[in-house]
Amino acid sequence: MATLFKNIKELIQVRREPVTFVSGKDMNNLPTIKNAFLVVVNGFIADFGSMDNCPEENFSKIVDAKDKMVLPAWCDSHTHIVYAGNREGEFVDRIKGMTYTDIANKGGGILNSAKKLQETSEDDLYNQSKVRLEEIMTLGTGAVEIKSGYGLTEDSELKILRVIKRLKKNYSICIKSTFLGAHAIPNEYKNNKKGYLEVLINDIMPKIAKEQLAEYIDVFCETGYFSVSDTELLLKHAKKFGWIPKIHVNQFTAMGGVQAGVKYNALSVDHLEVMRDEDIEVLKNTSTMPVALPGCSYFLSIPYTPARKMIDAGLPLALATDYNPGSAPSGNMNFVVATACVKMNMTPEEAINAATINGAYAMGLENKLGTITKGKWANLIITKPINSYDFIPYSFGNSVIESVYIKGVEIKNN
Ligand code: NIG
Ligand code: FE
Repeated sequence: MATLFKNIKELIQVRREPVTFVSGKDMNNLPTIKNAFLVVVNGFIADFGSMDNCPEENFSKIVDAKDKMVLPAWCDSHTHIVYAGNREGEFVDRIKGMTYTDIANKGGGILNSAKKLQETSEDDLYNQSKVRLEEIMTLGTGAVEIKSGYGLTEDSELKILRVIKRLKKNYSICIKSTFLGAHAIPNEYKNNKKGYLEVLINDIMPKIAKEQLAEYIDVFCETGYFSVSDTELLLKHAKKFGWIPKIHVNQFTAMGGVQAGVKYNALSVDHLEVMRDEDIEVLKNTSTMPVALPGCSYFLSIPYTPARKMIDAGLPLALATDYNPGSAPSGNMNFVVATACVKMNMTPEEAINAATINGAYAMGLENKLGTITKGKWANLIITKPINSYDFIPYSFGNSVIESVYIKGVEIKNN
């Protein structure tokens, strides 16, 4: 099965030599080919180049992309899309003056979602979650990481991770799964956090490992949730199972979470709305990808990750949605890319690199996705007719996508 995309106005994020991730000044470099062709064979990128060299063999499908651009599908490395119900009531409470922390302290927030999820059957949870997965695919996402963390009991955490496993089996989009049992302290352990940590370490983690339900471990390292030493304890135990850390740090408080991530070779440290100079410094020359979640900053009206300062200091940066019912109820990577440009002063080149190759790296998928490179999966966005790739973030809130291909197959908009 060979498909030819021809007359592509501009083929974006072309890398003939494989790249792991891009950082600092290199983030502003987005290689492209104007008036290009792209050949996809059996779901993989087989060839590409200038139309001057377009092959003429028999293709089973030819797509004329005249006036349109082609780029790698978005790589969303941080979501919580397996959740039950929504929290629009809390959204209205915030509009009326309550803070995110006030709501959490009153038993709302993550505990509210956990209660709903505990009462939801696995089938119902699957059906609610697949709607979100299908939605993000039509919005151009070709790889996604999904976290547990709205269960907070053995049964419910396993329920979420089994739903993720089912999604992986039934959908062609690349999915990575992360165990986030340390997302909040359940009410029963309100005055006994140590007890909850013991349950996580001695009961829940071994069961998840036995069923091979997680690739990564996450912890909400934050005041009122889990401390740096709680985080290090969990990461230490996770090592036994080969789970790589991808952790929530510096959302509201800079308290050493970034340092803990680097110390435990985290694949990514995510949120980073509050960054001290020392937090930027410790990330330099490491393999840990900083991940910004501008949809969360937008929705909660909290500071944006200081992308300019971080990139200017030579760091890489990835962008993700954080799609979840409390702090970012949107999985729209197009909005995230636009918001990164509008609110974080990232250039379109930096934002597109952050949402493709750097996002792929933050899921361990840099060899499979995130660039137009021979041998990678053909997860592609075909834009509507547009003048330049700058139009993608410029046209915020509008859809610039005409079609999406996952492993070479067009996703149908139902
Ligand atoms: O990444 N910060 C921690 N967890 C989620 C939000 C949790 C919620 O409010 O449901 C986040 O923002
Ligand atoms: Fe999150």
